[in-house]
Amino acid sequence: MAQVINESPTEKFTIGQPKIFWTDSLTHTLPLNRTSSYMVMGKRGAGKSNDLEYLACQNLERGGGVFDFFGARDSEGLAWLRSPYEKTRKILLLHGPDTSIVSSWDSKYASELSLGDFEHYDIIISPAAFYTSPHQEFHEAGNTISKIYLRDHYDKIQCLLVREAGNIYYARLSIDGNQYEAKAAAAYMSKEARHSGFTCAFDTLRPFSIDIDIRVTAEIVILKRLGRAMLPRDMWYIYRTFRPEMIARLPKNTSVIVTDDNYMGVMDVPFLPWHKTEREHLISILGIKVDHGSVSLGEAKESEMHGSIMTIGDKDHLSMMALYANPNQEGKPLSMIAVGSTMEPKRSAYAVFSQIHAHDSGIIKQGFCSICRRSKSGLAATIMDRKKQ
Ligand SMILES: Nc1ncnc2c1ncn2[C@@H]1O[C@H](COP(=O)(O)OP(=O)(O)O)[C@@H](O)[C@H]1O
Ligand SMILES: [Mg+2]
Repeated sequence: MAQVINESPTEKFTIGQPKIFWTDSLTHTLPLNRTSSYMVMGKRGAGKSNDLEYLACQNLERGGGVFDFFGARDSEGLAWLRSPYEKTRKILLLHGPDTSIVSSWDSKYASELSLGDFEHYDIIISPAAFYTSPHQEFHEAGNTISKIYLRDHYDKIQCLLVREAGNIYYARLSIDGNQYEAKAAAAYMSKEARHSGFTCAFDTLRPFSIDIDIRVTAEIVILKRLGRAMLPRDMWYIYRTFRPEMIARLPKNTSVIVTDDNYMGVMDVPFLPWHKTEREHLISILGIKVDHGSVSLGEAKESEMHGSIMTIGDKDHLSMMALYANPNQEGKPLSMIAVGSTMEPKRSAYAVFSQIHAHDSGIIKQGFCSICRRSKSGLAATIMDRKKQ
């Protein structure tokens, strides 16, 4: 059994009913008992993903499911596996064609997802780290979108989470290669997926880009802290009710809600204690083994002279990681590691820093550092920045 966090905040957590203060002081309800569509807008770190998960929990509480379909690059959808729902709901993990997963949860190729799975499973997760490249993930997701519309009857409402609405565009683009059709795909999904038993919940950092089409079709728009960004011009009327400074600086647990009938309110959203924090590496925390099998890791790279600059080759990377991982080096400045390595010429502290960063991001995104892996280094899945563990 994977290690699931059993600390009291998650154990004790209950979702409860949404707490909304409507500006007209009347009572309105969110469409939580039927299919609908939501668009969450806000700056990075504003709490958008937490809001999406909160909406999905409301659906789970009503006997529905969550299809965490288009995750962020850091596979934050895996956090469901340490939520209280893990004990009571059926979970399925989707992965790409070159990847195999060993874990205590069911898993299958994304291409084999069937309509029956939407009735059988309560939580279906397709994490970025289970694909060998973003292109592969987009391609598989593009195919899955087509399947969604084949669902012509349903018992279970699935809440479809898309953690960056613009990704739908790339997913469809990878299937039909047609920009116009790809652009229409997300808007179509936001409007039409409800007829197939899906509540769509999208989030976006970029309200001005292609996501506009989704925003206008969403039944409920949720505004989070926008920071310096202004609302798009067609939404400026909201500033008559909520001052721009207020929306710019909304606390993370507060969202402004605008319904399609133009009722406005302020919703309290609790922090979900299992939500992934930025530096966590969930795959190792949850004890999941991800094998990308025969995937090409690229050719080994030698250092090369480019003008007066010597590039960093595989050997240099391995030497830096080996030194950094050495317990005797703990706490020493990166400049000493740069000097201590076997590389000629000696590298700067910044070079070491950037290699550690590349190494750790490879592990967080795909489960391994590809340079270390192609050289069969034992450190291929070892996070270097100890604070990240
Ligand atoms: N409702 C909330 N209450 C308190 N803190 C929150 C809440 N939502 C998010 N946070 C904090 O903000 C961080 C980023 O939240 P997240 O939802 O991942 O942001 P985004 O998706 O907008 O980048 C979380 O890790 C958490 O620390
Ligand atoms: Mg997010």
